[in-house]
Formats: sequence, C-alpha cells, structure tokens
Amino acid sequence: MNVSVIGTGYVGLVTGACLADAGNNILCLDVDGQKISRLNNGEIPIFEPGLEPIVRRNREAGRLKFSTDIPASVAHGELQLIAVGTPPGEDGSADMQYVLEAARQIGRHMKGYKVVATKSTVPVGTADKIKNEIQQLTKTDFSVVSNPEFLKEGAAVEDFMRPDRIIIGADDERAIALLRRLYAPFQRNRERVIVMGVRSAELTKYTANSMLAARISFMNEVANLAEALGADIEEVRRGIGSDPRIGTDFLYAGAGFGGSCFPKDVKALQRTAADAGKPLRLLAAVEAVNEAQKHVLGNKIRKRLGEDLSGKCIALWGLAFKANTDDMREAPSLTLIDDLVRAGASVQAYDPVAGKNFHHKSLKVVPSALAALDGADALAIVTEWREFRSPDFAGIKARLKTPAIFDGRNLYDPTQLRELGIEYYPIGRKT
Ligand SMILES: NC(=O)c1ccc[n+]([C@@H]2O[C@H](COP(=O)([O-])OP(=O)(O)OC[C@H]3O[C@@H](n4cnc5c(N)ncnc54)[C@H](O)[C@@H]3O)[C@@H](O)[C@H]2O)c1
Repeated sequence: MNVSVIGTGYVGLVTGACLADAGNNILCLDVDGQKISRLNNGEIPIFEPGLEPIVRRNREAGRLKFSTDIPASVAHGELQLIAVGTPPGEDGSADMQYVLEAARQIGRHMKGYKVVATKSTVPVGTADKIKNEIQQLTKTDFSVVSNPEFLKEGAAVEDFMRPDRIIIGADDERAIALLRRLYAPFQRNRERVIVMGVRSAELTKYTANSMLAARISFMNEVANLAEALGADIEEVRRGIGSDPRIGTDFLYAGAGFGGSCFPKDVKALQRTAADAGKPLRLLAAVEAVNEAQKHVLGNKIRKRLGEDLSGKCIALWGLAFKANTDDMREAPSLTLIDDLVRAGASVQAYDPVAGKNFHHKSLKVVPSALAALDGADALAIVTEWREFRSPDFAGIKARLKTPAIFDGRNLYDPTQLRELGIEYYPIGRKT
C-alpha cells in the first residue's frame, strides 16, 4: 500500500519504518528540512532501540523515502497518516496548529480519494475539525479516521510490530477496510483491531495515558506515606501487584513521571473535561502529586547536605525521562537540576544517550558514569538505565565526598548499601 506519514518524529519515523518493513511503500514527510536531510544521509535523528536497521534496510529496498515535498507526499499515499506534534498550549489544551496545518496541506493538494488518519494524540472532536479544514479546500471525496498510537518510546519498534491493540475510530466502511488491510501483518496470531466511534477512539488514547499517570501518582503518594510510617513501597508494590485486578505494571514509585505524553495528555484531558462542564477531579490531583514528586529528590538532598548547597557538586546519573530514549521532554531531571542549582550546587551529569545533545547553562555533561562522580559530594539517580543497575559500589564510595546515593528509581537493595557503608535515600523504602 502507498502510505504518506506526515511528521517524521518519534511516532512518524517508527510508524513509517515499521509499515515499510511489512512491504508498504512509505513516504515520510516533515517540514524540518534538516531532519529530512539527515534521514536521507542515513542518520537517525532519535535514539530508539532497533530502529536503525529497519530504516536502513527499507531505505535500501526503496520502500521508505523521506521528503519535505508536500504536493509529492499528498500525491503518494491513498492513506495519509498524521503524526505531527500536539504540544501543550498555554491553557493546557493540546495545540492543534500542526495537525490542522497538516489537514490543510492534504486539502490543498489532493487529486483523488484519500483516507486521512490521525496517529497524533488529539482532543475529542478533532476529526470533525480536520474534515472541516479539508472540505473548505477540495471537492474531492475523503474519509477522516482516528487511529491513535500507543507505542512507548524505548520499546517503540516492538510495540508497533506486536501491538496490544489497534484502535480504529471511524464510521466509514471503506476507510475501516483500508486500515484493516494496513494492520493485517501486525496481528497474525489474534485480532488486535478494535473498531469504535471516532470520538471514543480520540478519548481512549487520553484515558489510557491518564490512567497510567494516575497509577504512578498514586504509588508515589503511597511511597511518601510508607516512608513516614516505616513501611516499604517495594514490599507494598509486590503485595498489591499480585492481585490480577491490579497487575504488576506501572506501580513503581519514583521521581515523578515526565516525557512527551503523560504530562501534556493529563493536562489536555482536564482542559477538554472542564470545557465540557465535567471536570475530572482525579486528574487535577494526579498532576499536583506529580509536580510535587519531581521535587522529592532535591528535598532529600537538601535535607541531608544542607539548604545551602553552595560549593557542593552533585553527580547526576540519567537525564532522559526514562531509560532507552534520548527524549528530554518534561524529564524529572530538569526539575532536579533547577532545584539543585537554585540551592547553589553545581551538577555534573552522565546519560548514555541523552547527554550528547542536551545543553543546560548550569550543567556539565561528562562522558561516563564514573567521571560524573569525580569531585562530587553525592550521587543522584533519575533514569533507570541498565548500566546503573549493578555499579561498582566500592568505586562510588571511594569517589564521593559523602558516600550518599539519592535514588529516584529505587534501583538498589537498601540492606546491601547499608552493609557497604553507603547512605541510601530511595523513594518510599525502609532504609
Ligand atoms: N512520542 C511518543 O512516545 C508518542 C506515543 C504515542 C503518541 N504520541 C503522539 O504522537 C504525536 C507526535 O509525537 P512525536 O513524539 O512523534 O512528536 P515529534 O515532535 O517527535 O515529531 C513531530 C514532527 O512533526 C513535524 N511537523 C510539524 N508540522 C508538520 C507539518 N505540517 N507537516 C509535516 N511535518 C510536520 C515536526 O517537524 C516534527 O518532526 C503527538 O500527538 C504525540 O502526543 C507520541
């Protein structure tokens, strides 16, 4: 099938590459000429495990092309997948300018029937707006479908190739049949497609992300309570996760959630709900708990080393909002760095991939985990990269001026660290 993917970011590039790998002819469009030149030179502008070989082999096979040519992109695909960004606007609602511009691009240049499907996370009612934009620019027939994307950065290729579900929000049989054909190779062992109304599909995506964010905020709040009561959140997590109604995923306490999706989607759904006169009171709490949680590690450091951290240096392991990505959007590390710098500390950070392109005026990025410890007073951890999981504790202790680890990811065994003579400050654990 000929498919155009509009927007070649995390979602667009993974979608384009994986669809090409199934034999489709994909044209990935972006307005960012630099990004497209890099892709055409064989470079992958994002870090995403497993993506590079798929992009390479499909480019070489001629099934995956990158372009800034809007008319060519509109002409290429009977299916136009919109995967542009929907960042938060000033009032928290999703900023729709990129999605609506993508719609206008299609409307201006289309010559035959098109199915326009939104992969971007968009507020309920967006499909109607897209339809309206296109209708004003063409007399040609088209369908608009909601097809929200559920991939997780860091496991995006696997998620796309073996999806838990594929949501198609549409009321038009022709469009549904086209998308069913597109996704058939990704659901060979069981049916993953769930067809529903367009508005339900749009709401499903926000509800999924908000539910996951709520689990994290709930566990973070209980973790803080566990600390106050002398209980251990890891024991509580195992205890409740064994209940199949609760399940084990997404129950980890930590330094707050970040990333390009949860924070903005929790905000946008609240905005939608408030506008509809049905405020989602739970989500306001989810957001408030998360904002507070992003300061917990900084508070612990100041409590131990003093409110005034002038002259102190904190080693920071991890910058990305989670492991296996270079995405820094809304990362909890940013709040911690601000808190530490405001208290007078200097920060030297190491991240296996996110450090390379990250610049912050008060931060020194160093090339290894050990180098971050040199001259540092204490260590803080905010990203659960695998290489941090079993470090050389004796080496850490020898390098730090104060042998203290502030762990925003609960990576270590408190008993082991106590026996090694390292002060350990995790989240919600009995130390
Ligand atoms: N990143 C994720 O993990 C993830 C997962 C599921 C859903 N989503 C949703 O998918 C959407 C895209 O997210 P992302 O992280 O890939 O964004 P991104 O910022 O990485 O990429 C968006 C791309 O769209 C391009 N663009 C903007 N306007 C354009 C236009 N008119 N024509 C062509 N290209 C244009 C930008 O230049 C950019 O390269 C968002 O709505 C997001 O909420 C993201």
